[in-house]
Amino acid sequence: MKILAISGSLRPGSANTSLLHAAATLISEGIELTIYEGLANLPHFNPELDGEVPPISVNNWRKQLRESDGLIICTPEYAYGMPGVLKNALDWIVSSGELVGKPVAAISASPSEFGGANAHASLLLTLTALAANIVLGASLSVPFVSKKLNTKGELTDPDTAQLLRFVLDALVAAIKVQPDAAERLL
Ligand code: FNR
Repeated sequence: MKILAISGSLRPGSANTSLLHAAATLISEGIELTIYEGLANLPHFNPELDGEVPPISVNNWRKQLRESDGLIICTPEYAYGMPGVLKNALDWIVSSGELVGKPVAAISASPSEFGGANAHASLLLTLTALAANIVLGASLSVPFVSKKLNTKGELTDPDTAQLLRFVLDALVAAIKVQPDAAERLL
């Protein structure tokens, strides 16, 4: 089973990326969790570039999505919404449909008490537009995230670790009952 993890933050010291690294250590053995590294390389979405030969970085993004059985997206909140780079990446797959029926776990994290709830809501709205399978029980907002990581970015809060485990379990369970891509397109 392959899970692609996408952080909405480009910062090297990102709390959201740190949570995805924590998820990689918490996930059951035998499940491959890969963090997508190409968000910053995607061009600004332009429907006119989305012809028969899309940019290489877009093709690669779509390929990695197709090859994954499920996704975890972990997003910060900027100005009450998800970061533009994440929305941009999602806009590139409106026409190509890689997320149709794909199980997705949606996480937000912020140093604030609300845990990036607005970004979480905006992410869910876009995932709905993409017809993704937003997995029940695999949604989480992490408040006060900076207090839950140490200076190396390691997750030190046991409650958040437990919540992340629940999210991962729900995602994996949803993937196991998911029809494969060919069946989804019938
Ligand atoms: C923020 N931050 C923020 N946080 C929040 O909860 N709601 C918000 O609307 C915003 N807006 C915002 C705008 C800008 C320009 C910046 C730089 C920051 C704070 C943000 O959540 C915080 O920097 C996180 O740590 C970013 O996530 P990463 O990069 O640590 O994953």
